[in-house]
Amino acid sequence: MCGIVGYTGTRTAAPVVLEGLKRLEYRGYDSAGLAVVNGGLEVFRAPGKIAILERELGSDLPEGTTAIAHTRWATHGAPTTANAHPHADCGGTLALVHNGIIENAGVLRQALTKRGHVFRSQTDTEVLSHLIEENHTKGMPLVDATAEALRGSPLLVAIGNGENFVASDASAVLAHTRSVVYLDDGDIAEVKPTDYRIMDLDAGEKETPVTHVEWDLATIERGGYAHFMLKEIMEQPESVRNTLRGRLLEEEGTVRFGGLNISADELLKVQRIVITACGTSWHSALIGEYMMEELARIPTEVEYASEFRYRNPIVDERTLVIGISQSGETADTLAALREAKRRGARTLGLVNVVGSSIAREVDGGIYLHAGPEIGVASTKAFTSQIVALALLTLKMGRLRALSILQGREVVRALAKLPELVARVLTKAAEVEQIAERLVRAQNVLYLGRGYNFPVALEGALKLKEISYIHAEGYPAAEMKHGPIALIDDLMPVVFIAPKDGVHQKVLSNIEEVKARGGRVIAIVTEGDTALDKLADHRIEIPETLDLLTPVLSVVPLQLLAYYIAVRRGCNVDQPRNLAKSVTVE
Ligand code: F6R
Repeated sequence: MCGIVGYTGTRTAAPVVLEGLKRLEYRGYDSAGLAVVNGGLEVFRAPGKIAILERELGSDLPEGTTAIAHTRWATHGAPTTANAHPHADCGGTLALVHNGIIENAGVLRQALTKRGHVFRSQTDTEVLSHLIEENHTKGMPLVDATAEALRGSPLLVAIGNGENFVASDASAVLAHTRSVVYLDDGDIAEVKPTDYRIMDLDAGEKETPVTHVEWDLATIERGGYAHFMLKEIMEQPESVRNTLRGRLLEEEGTVRFGGLNISADELLKVQRIVITACGTSWHSALIGEYMMEELARIPTEVEYASEFRYRNPIVDERTLVIGISQSGETADTLAALREAKRRGARTLGLVNVVGSSIAREVDGGIYLHAGPEIGVASTKAFTSQIVALALLTLKMGRLRALSILQGREVVRALAKLPELVARVLTKAAEVEQIAERLVRAQNVLYLGRGYNFPVALEGALKLKEISYIHAEGYPAAEMKHGPIALIDDLMPVVFIAPKDGVHQKVLSNIEEVKARGGRVIAIVTEGDTALDKLADHRIEIPETLDLLTPVLSVVPLQLLAYYIAVRRGCNVDQPRNLAKSVTVE
């Protein structure tokens, strides 16, 4: 949510920060801007995508070897030039870019206006420029004046050779360096071309470890695919394999983790699990709930992070609170985990981005190792989250009621998943043809039961967020308690109906839809002919254990949403109003 990149060194800074900014565009694309120290301070801003700013700048980029740049996801104030970052102070001597929300901006703005400051935008950010200006003109050094004014959001310092960078995430600087220092909330960094120092707002200068980023430039580029989303869907055999790598213990029918930081004894003391997340990650959490209760027999609840943190939840030291997040930066999930910790719970993170805020906040965790996910619609992170949840369930289950034989069966099924996902992907052309038929749909209903109910939610979310077609996910049997009223021959209904424990029940639900003239697209198990007559379109997936079917059944739904959106001419990787990393509440 908003991308920031800064550079100071010996090169002309503008092209460096603009190139870095493009890699952060997934975080927001409402407006963009940059400020360059070029004798004085020069600020350039434009509404819309970075390409528009570049067009306005033309080929004659400003000189100067120090610059900051910003791509915005609007919170306070419309996406206009005036509201684009950087924001200067009254004197035009400092320029500021910011990610996050300043909740007391209104009060501060009033007070600063009374003291003579002139505001040029509606943003909350601009109050910081004026606050820092005020502190600085009172004689405080710039670093102290800044420290006095602000609180944090994700940011890192990247260390080059005779040059240094700041950025919202490492993708902006990978072309130049893979050595980064992650800042904690409350940290402030002073960055010069050959030197940097990190200070804690309360405790002063501090030592911070330099982390080597594993991802390289190739992993964050499209690699010949039309869109990041398609690349990431197609990468799933590999991303699932990477989530499993080194963790399966077939002989013992269990798994091992490097960073759980919770002993077997402590895991045995867990009496209740709460899984908290947002969006797609919340859908994987629902699958985790079903797994944990069925296999590990631990009472498990799933909470939207945004609800959990504000509703006095019942959590104590016997509760394990698991936060799931691709980015590791989602503000609500981070805050929910902090709240759980404050109440004495043990916390675990299932996170993709190494070194992210959530990864650093929790007691222990499981990295997804899915590789960078750039497309705004989450795909490969979802399948890796399900796999990580299955691994954790296996670990918890084997410490309790799950027998070694059952454990081995799950391990073997997990090991086969990458190859099965690859098999589903061979159906892409079939899915594309079905997508042709749905391009003009105005509403689509997704129905599933058991482990595939959350997949119905996820299929619907994928479609609505990238194609702007209204879609709803429902438990299949709930349909007759309301949504059935919507069904007519214009309403496509996608059933996720693999041959699992609730297959027969789902068949009855399909009959109910057909009886009302609905158009049925069904995800079925290979060789299952039960739906041949009922379904208008079938997409087959290979057989696996019930709990793992979501890893396979969601793939055709990701492809379906993708092809429909492409045919409708939508910007698949950057859907309107969305941003990849939601760092505001
Ligand atoms: C949907 C999507 C979002 C995210 C949600 C949580 O495709 O990407 O719903 O799943 O914003 O993000 P993370 O997982 O980064 O916490």
